[in-house]
Amino acid sequence: MISIQSQHLRRVDIRRDLLPVADLIELCFGSQMDKDGREYVQQIRRAAKDSRYLRWMPGAGEQVSLPLHGYVWEEGNRIVGNLTLIPNYYKGCWYYLIANVAVHPDFRRRGIARQLTETALHHVRDHNAHAAWLHVREDNFAAQELYRSLGMVERVRRTTWCSSSDIPPETPPKEITITRRVKSHWRFQNQWLDTVYPQEIVWNMPLQPSRFNPGLWAGFIRFLNNEQIQHWSALYRDELAGVVTWEPSRHSADTLWLAVNPQIEQEAIQALLTYLRQTFSLGHPLQTNYPAGRAENAFHQAGFGKANTLIWMEMKFR
Ligand SMILES: CC(C)(COP(=O)(O)OP(=O)(O)OC[C@H]1O[C@@H](n2cnc3c(N)ncnc32)[C@H](O)[C@@H]1OP(=O)(O)O)[C@@H](O)C(=O)NCCC(=O)NCCS
Repeated sequence: MISIQSQHLRRVDIRRDLLPVADLIELCFGSQMDKDGREYVQQIRRAAKDSRYLRWMPGAGEQVSLPLHGYVWEEGNRIVGNLTLIPNYYKGCWYYLIANVAVHPDFRRRGIARQLTETALHHVRDHNAHAAWLHVREDNFAAQELYRSLGMVERVRRTTWCSSSDIPPETPPKEITITRRVKSHWRFQNQWLDTVYPQEIVWNMPLQPSRFNPGLWAGFIRFLNNEQIQHWSALYRDELAGVVTWEPSRHSADTLWLAVNPQIEQEAIQALLTYLRQTFSLGHPLQTNYPAGRAENAFHQAGFGKANTLIWMEMKFR
């Protein structure tokens, strides 16, 4: 059983907490929030005013990303601390993402974030989940210190790269040609996807490699779901060097999934991304998530800039 130590700490109650939680998230993350972050806060505000949502959601399943689950810290009838728990079921296991850890600036360094996080970790353990994860920016040393002191362990660092009109792409290597992906490339694409987006983190990404299968059945499913994804391959002297998948998104940028031969990743990434930047130059920006510190020159040379680098930390329970 979770024991709540302080009279100020309690579970989120969506019928009354959503607006103050949205305000607190905006206050604490405002300066670093991107377009998707701002849209997330707007979504919380809309939900707070939607009586049908408020009536229906408390009985809904676990897979809802709004701050439905989590804890708040309340003092003098004000919510001054928040932590959101986002449960996710993947391949037979429950994982929880800890998000929106925020404490009002006037209440910091009093141990509020520590108590919120400790309580959240007990919650995850008591719900028989496989692990708790969180993402923290590489430059947020205060929060990293907090999570490390509670026993969370760094697993990976991932950088989000975004196409930028401020960075003109350079000429890609001449030995590489770009073609449409063909069926025989799938075996390599699938294998390389596994190395760029390893199993341990893929539960927390909107990636299902089986959707990229060129077979008839996967094509039929994509048709039914009206999914518009496209693939291009990079050939280095006629050998496959990598495949990129473009997926349109409702969010601020379309998503690219890179599957590249590690022996030749610089050249493959530069050529594929330069090609896509030229192909989609008038549309949405493009973004992709890649292991931090890898192929950085290739991203720059293709006209992509760093949006952020996040440290993914985990506490395993099983
Ligand atoms: C990070 C944040 C949540 C910490 O909240 P808090 O209630 O002040 O943190 P606590 O008082 O519980 O501190 C717990 C530990 O975190 C670390 N820490 C917190 N603030 C720190 C700071 N400004 N500098 C260095 N370490 C800090 C310390 O290790 C501290 O332990 P200690 O007090 O025993 O030294 C708060 O500063 C905040 O809301 N920041 C903006 C939003 C944010 O970055 N959230 C984290 C996203 S991953």
